[in-house]
Amino acid sequence: AAAKVTIDPAFTVGPVRRRTFGAFVEHLGRCVYTGIYEPGHPAADEDGFRTDVLELTRELGVSTVRYPGGNFVSGYRWEDGVGPKDQRPVRLDLAWHSTDPNQVGVDEFAAWSAKAGVEPMMAVNLGTRGTQEALDLLEYCNIDGGTSLSDQRRGNGAPNGYGITMWCLGNEMDGPWQIGHKNALEYGRLAADTARAMRMVEPDLELVACGSSGPTMDTFGEWERVVLTETYDLVDLISAHQYFEDFGDLQEHLCAGHRMDAFIRDIVSHIDHVKSVKKSTKQVNISFDEWNVWHMSRGESKAPSGKDWPVAPVLLEDTYTVADAVVVGDLLITLLKHTDRVHSASLAQLVNVIAPIMTEPGGRAWKQTTFHPFALTSKHASGTVLQLAVESPLVSGGTTADVAALSAVATFDPDKGEAVIFAVNRSAENALALDAAIAGLGAVRVVEALTYANKDPYWQAGADDSTSVLPSDNGSVKVDGGRLTAGLPAVSWSMIRLA
Ligand code: AHR
Repeated sequence: AAAKVTIDPAFTVGPVRRRTFGAFVEHLGRCVYTGIYEPGHPAADEDGFRTDVLELTRELGVSTVRYPGGNFVSGYRWEDGVGPKDQRPVRLDLAWHSTDPNQVGVDEFAAWSAKAGVEPMMAVNLGTRGTQEALDLLEYCNIDGGTSLSDQRRGNGAPNGYGITMWCLGNEMDGPWQIGHKNALEYGRLAADTARAMRMVEPDLELVACGSSGPTMDTFGEWERVVLTETYDLVDLISAHQYFEDFGDLQEHLCAGHRMDAFIRDIVSHIDHVKSVKKSTKQVNISFDEWNVWHMSRGESKAPSGKDWPVAPVLLEDTYTVADAVVVGDLLITLLKHTDRVHSASLAQLVNVIAPIMTEPGGRAWKQTTFHPFALTSKHASGTVLQLAVESPLVSGGTTADVAALSAVATFDPDKGEAVIFAVNRSAENALALDAAIAGLGAVRVVEALTYANKDPYWQAGADDSTSVLPSDNGSVKVDGGRLTAGLPAVSWSMIRLA
């Protein structure tokens, strides 16, 4: 089957935003302890951070990193995580039925972020706590000095404020599983009060209100309406969270990008409804701050129970297939396609917990399949996202019917003189012949064409990555007189760079 695409720099969606390539570090399972932090590991630096993980984080091309949760934040006392490490309290983490030794807190996270070259994105606890504690954390983090909490930070070894710009006003407060779960009006008022007060400290913060935990929440839509009615003038972004799972129907799984696309369109409608009712000229946008493949029903997510409160247990350690990586690549394509309204996104999460980077305690750090499309998209998407015209054969799987088999986006960077096409063939069965009209790009040649696919789409990587399936050269790509043709195998992700 053939798919036709027209690529022309005259038709744009918006800028490629570095913040689209964010990730997430939560105090959950082995994300922090034995993930980013493992003093005593042969690769640990003087602060106890694993340099192998730092290197992979840089290679992944992560921009912002959200911290410290997730569900964890809704029971978190940030003060527990600052000051001399041997005096920090050991606490129960109710969200994940674990014990947190508090050896990593905001100062360590800020130090780690600087080493990783990422922008920290901080979440405040609006579950068990409120406006005052959020203000305290903001003062501790961002005021340079001369106040009680900023001087406390200086005493703890950080002379300058961290200048953290992005702040999440709680996490998934629509979810009954959330500590301090609230209805939309209760949350909306608390978020508004907190945002207003935080802006008295720093007017230019970028604040994220909690949106829905997913499109299947009964309250989705109404939650956005009520929360934004309370907070519209006070926040910049509303969050979206969505996870995708392979329930055994590969074709349905491969249509995940289509379901994310529908979710984004719905959220945009809900935001713009409130904007219109308020007759506002301000534009609230989306922070898609949790997204990934998460095989939740396979049980890797089961938290300990009873009297068992382990430190850094193995939790949510999904192993990803090549098909999952194709889905992750497609989800990134989808986020880029909506760059006009999705202004920030975080792959959940970064290390060990539903993550592209895995570690063995005391041992190796290795890349999951999902690492590759993320790293390549982050590295090469730049400039402007182009609006493509796409004509594609359709596929149907499970609950998702008549979806374009081709998911594609292109970016164009006049400064680099480069256009990049990112394309997924969502068909579980058939190869696609891509036929792209590219005359608008002028005279270009193929700089690099990589495809990620495998005979067995269920292949998974492991700690021994000497035999890994890696993105490989797609020898079929040809450019001839304003026309590009390429073969895209079934279940594949591709990147074609033109200059
Ligand atoms: O990312 C794992 C969990 O998923 C987060 O803690 C929570 O916000 C979401 O439900």
